[in-house]
Amino acid sequence: MTSKASGSITVTLDGSNKSTTLPLLGGTLGPQVADIRKLYGDLGIFTYDPGYGATASCESTITYIDGDAGVLLYRGYPIEQLAENSDFLEVCYLLLNGELPNKAEFADFHKGVTYHTMLHEQLRRFYDGFRRDAHPMAIMCGVVGAMAAFYHDNLDINDENQRRIAAFRLIAKVPTIAAWAYKYSVGQPFLYPRNDLGYAENFLYMLNGVPAEEYVNNPILSRAMDRILILHADHEQNASTSTVRLAGSTGANPFACIAAGIAALWGPAHGGANEAVLKMLAEIGTPENIPAFIKEVKDKNSHTKLMGFGHRVYKNFDPRAKIMKDTCHEVLAELGIKDEPLLDMAMEMERIALEDDYFVSRKLYPNVDFYSGIILKAMGIPTSMFTVLFAVARTVGWVSQWKELIEDPSQRIGRPRQIYTGAPSRDFVAIDKRG
Ligand code: SDX
Repeated sequence: MTSKASGSITVTLDGSNKSTTLPLLGGTLGPQVADIRKLYGDLGIFTYDPGYGATASCESTITYIDGDAGVLLYRGYPIEQLAENSDFLEVCYLLLNGELPNKAEFADFHKGVTYHTMLHEQLRRFYDGFRRDAHPMAIMCGVVGAMAAFYHDNLDINDENQRRIAAFRLIAKVPTIAAWAYKYSVGQPFLYPRNDLGYAENFLYMLNGVPAEEYVNNPILSRAMDRILILHADHEQNASTSTVRLAGSTGANPFACIAAGIAALWGPAHGGANEAVLKMLAEIGTPENIPAFIKEVKDKNSHTKLMGFGHRVYKNFDPRAKIMKDTCHEVLAELGIKDEPLLDMAMEMERIALEDDYFVSRKLYPNVDFYSGIILKAMGIPTSMFTVLFAVARTVGWVSQWKELIEDPSQRIGRPRQIYTGAPSRDFVAIDKRG
């Protein structure tokens, strides 16, 4: 389905007789958009929208968010139903292909991913070039970007089959790359992926297993990990996805585009928030210190944010946060953790914030990152790996959005404009004539 004209708006320049009529375009769900492509040609003006908070950069059929209603749909399916009834690989198929697979399609897809999980043995040597204390996100940026140096055979982005193979390679290999980044940081031997394990189970095996003993999978934790991957898989045109699309619009190869997305996700305002939440809770220390922290957040001069709270789109609640909170209780119960101080702190902070007008008036609610770190910490995953896990999950979203961009005939190279407020044109002055 493509957007359809659904009316128009007329723009008139005050103080002149110049005006133009812009078409309004409507999609399946969500607000109409004004197609401003002829605005500069007709009226000689640009639009201004720093952070693109009110600007649609593309048409997409993949994910839809209603921020006021707290709705998140992957290809039309509510995230709550997918988290409950599906698994991550099936969601990968859905995001990539637009429909849920039948049994034969899923078996074929599952095999395709499973048989691409190993890395070229020479890529393994890349890890030795990093310091042991390198942040694993730095390793992810480096190794995923370096995949372009190994998989030359599928860099023709205009070849559908090569796009498909690149998608398989990226989705299949990121868990291996991520797990090896962790193993390198702790000086443990890398474990090769196992074809007899599911996607989430294999990831936990490569993260936690050691050659010295048989690995025992905990199905509750694997299921929790699988659900966490589903929740993070895609999210419309967020900062990292928009980075992937902008890189993809230049014709860059898919490995370079995904490496760019990983770099963008790393920021604490975006995917780095889950790591920042744990650091915030640790710095606050005890529930008694929460009021003082909240006071600091409300002081504009402190520049302190309540990490894991707020969202550019969700102005009611982040549906993923509710599922994550339930999963948190499930995992802690499975692990027999009766009183997790961080969870108690987080729940108390949520209670206080949701009663405080500063947050309520600004429509700031817990987002996907507020509880995820507590689950991951309980599962024994180090804080430095939280954003890496987000990148593992989001790779399928980035690849799906990149594929949609390449296959969209209307897409052009991304090239935003600006308001220039610098110096007017002036002549060069030789250094001996300057003041
Ligand atoms: C992700 O886009 C996506 O979809 C992202 C994501 C995905 O799946 O890809 O959902 C993943 O990135 C989730 C967000 C993770 N980040 C954090 O938890 C970091 C803390 N949150 C903030 O940095 C902030 O809320 C953002 C970055 C998420 C949103 O920034 P906006 O859109 O600029 O915030 P806003 O315009 O809604 O802010 C309105 C007001 C401002 O104050 P005033 O100028 O009106 O006085 O609320 C304030 C902001 O300063 N504010 C906060 C706050 N978030 C916004 N104040 C304190 N703590 C916060 N967390």
